[in-house]
Amino acid sequence: MLKKSLHIALLALVVSGCSSQTSSQEQSVAVYTKDQSKHAFAQAVKLSHEDEDYRILGRSFFSIPWVEAPSATTARDGLGPLFSANTCKHCHTNNGAGVAQKENGEIDRSLVMRLSIPFTKNLNNSLIMRNGFVPEPTYGGQLSFNGTSDVKYEGSVSISYTQIEGKYADNELFTLHQPHYKLTSLQYGDMQKDVNVAPHIALALIGLNAIEAIDTQEILKNEDITDTNKDGISGKANWVFNPETNTTQLGRYTWKAAAASVKQQVANAAHNDMGLSNPLYPGDNCTDKQEECLKAPKGRGEFDLPMDRIDAITYYLETLKIPAQRKGSNFEKGQEIFNALGCVKCHISSFITKTGETIHPYSDFLLHDMGTQLSDGHTIFLAEANEFRTPPLWGIGLYEKVSGKLNLLHDGRAKTVAEAILWHGGEAKTQNEAFKQLTKQDRDALIEFLKGI
Ligand code: HEC
Ligand code: HEC
Repeated sequence: MLKKSLHIALLALVVSGCSSQTSSQEQSVAVYTKDQSKHAFAQAVKLSHEDEDYRILGRSFFSIPWVEAPSATTARDGLGPLFSANTCKHCHTNNGAGVAQKENGEIDRSLVMRLSIPFTKNLNNSLIMRNGFVPEPTYGGQLSFNGTSDVKYEGSVSISYTQIEGKYADNELFTLHQPHYKLTSLQYGDMQKDVNVAPHIALALIGLNAIEAIDTQEILKNEDITDTNKDGISGKANWVFNPETNTTQLGRYTWKAAAASVKQQVANAAHNDMGLSNPLYPGDNCTDKQEECLKAPKGRGEFDLPMDRIDAITYYLETLKIPAQRKGSNFEKGQEIFNALGCVKCHISSFITKTGETIHPYSDFLLHDMGTQLSDGHTIFLAEANEFRTPPLWGIGLYEKVSGKLNLLHDGRAKTVAEAILWHGGEAKTQNEAFKQLTKQDRDALIEFLKGI
């Protein structure tokens, strides 16, 4: 297989000149697509034949269902014994964000339940140092909705919403959806009493390699942990253990910025969401209280997902194009409002990557306290219960088209862009209040802008 550097060099040969935002012709991490269909997040950059084959291999591991071991017919065995879904694609349909509820009101698999118990931060404890949290002793770090033949699944969840009515300053009404979850059919007995259940919805897979190409210092520059400039907004980096490098690195991915690299997150997802053991997360996804799980038949190799397959999936995700901005007539006006309200303090509009390209993710990749109403109670590495990474907003106007539904915020509770803003609290309370004071015309312009970035 070709080395990554060669891949990038080949990539640059093909795409050089295609992107007007590229100042360096050496390596491009940001190639744009104008596709606005439901396949907008699944467009790949142009590659040589050999690299295209490798990309397709990665895509196949991402999208073709895995089966339980042992299987005579396929090299894709090793699913589970406990798992949430049998393909990556199940939760990241068309590479888009997850949806919270299915049409029949049942919870969708793409909304996972992270489980943890309280702990005191102690870096001498290797479990805390590596995971950043302490999993529930019987069920582990995530509730598995499925099990292989002889292994009981862990449980199910039911979801309901209370509607909360509110008013903008001009008296127009809005509705917020407060979620409620109930764990049902727990197959391994009660959970520890003080367990915390944090619902996290699948994220859209956009511009992952561009995010990786931002220099760490560029992100840290915006940190203001003690709010020295007194603007009410702090911004804190999450420092996380990355088994890929065996070091602590800046977290850039997931709702709580708990993953440092795309490869780490691919390996983590394979292990936790699909039960695929791999060199970065070895062993089966069973706790020592789950005997059937521990005894279940294993795949034939040392790992269900060896490193070359993790690399192929990572390559597939890193060769996707970024959706180009779609500027309507109110774009400029909406942008002015976005800046004036101070949204841009967290949703930072642009970064220059190490490759010299200007990208527009609308995120600072830092953690912010979003208030108690959004809290998920989950602490991971340096991220506290109320803290979340500012999610990038690029492509947000295409989410509904790509996923079939719009479910914003970490648990997918917000059904419109306006609702997502209206839930902002904590450090972003002022911006929420300012949003409510806008005229209808200005609110619409802001939202039109957001849908175009
Ligand atoms: C059961 C549903 C589910 C499956 C299956 C799944 N994911 Fe995810 N994915 C999620 C959720 C939920 C998140 C957000 C995690 C969090 O913040 O706690 C996520 C986040 C990610 C991210 C981070 C994106 C970002 O912008 O930060 C990547 C990359 C990713 N998944 C890749 C994969 C790959 C590759 C696979 C298959 C090996 C996979 N996922 C399988 C649910 C899933
Ligand atoms: C203090 C930092 C901060 C400020 C200021 C801020 N946001 Fe956010 N924003 C966040 C964080 C963190 C989240 C994720 C919260 C969660 O998932 O619970 C978020 C989520 C969002 C989302 C949903 C994204 C998704 O993928 O689900 C939208 C839309 C959004 N913000 C728009 C805005 C707008 C518009 C403003 C200004 C009115 C604003 N934000 C101000 C930090 C901020």
